[in-house]
Amino acid sequence: MTAQTKAPQGYSTAQIVLHWAVVVLIAAQYIFKDAISLAWDAIRAGETFAFSPLILAHVVGGGLILAFVVWRLVLRFKRGVPDAPENEPAPLKTLSHVAHWAFYAVLVGMAMSGSLAWFGDVSQAAQVHNILKVILLALIALHVLAVPFHRFVLKNNVMQRMIRPAD
Ligand code: HEM
Ligand code: HEM
Repeated sequence: MTAQTKAPQGYSTAQIVLHWAVVVLIAAQYIFKDAISLAWDAIRAGETFAFSPLILAHVVGGGLILAFVVWRLVLRFKRGVPDAPENEPAPLKTLSHVAHWAFYAVLVGMAMSGSLAWFGDVSQAAQVHNILKVILLALIALHVLAVPFHRFVLKNNVMQRMIRPAD
């Protein structure tokens, strides 16, 4: 049986906590990115760089994001996610479906490209990491704009679904 055949009424506590934990971790990856970027530039230039806990935090933070994303995927398949709000037009349902899956793909891609660059010294992987970082920002912008769109245009309170669990 697939998750789609019996959709739950809302997101579970675990799904909601994981969603917001990943949001905080992603914000930290962007806010504190300079340490690893400078270290990477130094490595490419054949120079040494001073260790900073923020470099380690980027690597560990990226690993945690990957772990949480895999956990969310397991929950999606085992428990499922609620259907899109009923009054959402079909093209928007498709768009949000695609955007949600794109989030998972981009986040896995970011963790893999970052690891390949950092541990494998592959400079093309860093280029991929840099392209994905822009795509991720675009997805986040679209995703966040969808919240007031749902609230004020479609007049459904989709935000409540990511706040109030339906375990
Ligand atoms: C999965 C979530 C991750 C996100 C959202 C993320 C995000 C970012 C961002 C925003 C930058 C700054 C790029 C720039 O403008 O200079 C960056 C750089 C970098 N990240 Fe990540 N990162 C993630 C995971 C990782 C992991 C797991 C590693 C390594 C194990 C890693 C290694 C790197 C490296 C080496 C750079 C420097 C690349 C460069 O400056 O060209 N990242 N990351
Ligand atoms: C910054 C990184 C973010 C990522 C990667 C992300 C990812 C996702 C994903 C993949 C889903 C689908 C549900 C799931 O699979 O668990 C989702 C749902 C949701 N997100 Fe985000 N999100 C982010 C930020 C935000 C922010 C900042 C807000 C609010 C301002 C938000 C509000 C929501 C809401 C309301 C839903 C439920 C949509 C529905 O019921 O269909 N998200 N998010």
